[in-house]
Amino acid sequence: MLPDATPHGDGTPARDRRPRDRVTLRTDLRAAVPDAAAAVGVTAAVFWFLYVRMDSGASATVAVMPFMDDPGTYWMYLLSQAFGWSALLWAWGTVMLGLLLSGPRPGRLPVSRQTLERWHRTTSLTTTALMFAHALMFAAELVRYETEVAWLQRLWVAFADSFVPGWYDSGTGRIAIPIGQGALYLAIPLGLLFYVRHRIGANTWRRLHRFVIVVYVLSVWHTLLYGTNVWYGEWPRTVLWLLQLPVAALLLARLLRPARSGERLGAPGRRGTVSLPAWAVRAAGRAAVVAVLVGIVAVVVSGHDGGRDRVTDTPATAPHDQTTD
Ligand code: HEM
Repeated sequence: MLPDATPHGDGTPARDRRPRDRVTLRTDLRAAVPDAAAAVGVTAAVFWFLYVRMDSGASATVAVMPFMDDPGTYWMYLLSQAFGWSALLWAWGTVMLGLLLSGPRPGRLPVSRQTLERWHRTTSLTTTALMFAHALMFAAELVRYETEVAWLQRLWVAFADSFVPGWYDSGTGRIAIPIGQGALYLAIPLGLLFYVRHRIGANTWRRLHRFVIVVYVLSVWHTLLYGTNVWYGEWPRTVLWLLQLPVAALLLARLLRPARSGERLGAPGRRGTVSLPAWAVRAAGRAAVVAVLVGIVAVVVSGHDGGRDRVTDTPATAPHDQTTD
């Protein structure tokens, strides 16, 4: 028998120099199974809640679109909404975990940093899947709904309305749908580039991954603009705004006291710090987050949250007009 001449001394081919414990997409997908199962459970609970509300006549969606007063027929729309909510909840969770990891180190954590990192990665994979399921169920509902056109056209129109930016041409959806699509299409590369960071370089990955906060902002914006269950200026909309407070606070903490010392702002022009224009951009970013934080508090306290008025509002800007049913 020949002696084992491989670098690891264990038969691993010489060209495969990957550390054996390196995180891969496959290992994370496997690790995400319990997380995804929990997300399915949450989606089912939200679906049941929305179904019961529609059935009882208390649904805000029906108030906006009276023709939807039948959960048995519009169950796919309700399922799309439910996936939207679980996607937003998971996005919230994964962003909070990411900010905890990249911001000031908390004195004591109930779990190890590695565990937090793993949760951040698995919840981020689940979030992208939930966002996709939300859009897919919306497309499925459109296929069911467009009864007066041929099958191939039904499929194409549903696909284009849901996934092609600029295609959907009705009401608020002309703006809100591309915003949602922007969130989904950015989430995919910004989340998955982690798994090829050994190819693109850790610094490139880190610089790009930072922009994942844009995905979250677009998701919240899309929901506030388009979600019929938060259409009116009532408690669900207030709760949605309130949930943004801890995110903005953690983002500010992360910018003021980043875990990586190289990202600290420091005094302008000091030796070893960034150039003055770069410093100005960083300082402006921090000031913008302070403004956002103050803005959210002002919205919650004043009640001026962009919600419509139930009495005077008309369903003219409803998510989708019933044209063929
Ligand atoms: C291809 C992208 C997307 C499409 C086509 C899409 C479509 C829609 C539509 C049509 C609605 C209105 C439903 C209603 O409330 O009556 C909606 C609402 C919503 N969307 Fe999206 N969306 C997309 C991306 C996203 C993303 C990335 C998120 C982020 C998590 C998201 C979360 C939500 C939430 C939470 C609602 C509110 C549902 C409700 O009021 O019950 N969507 N979306």
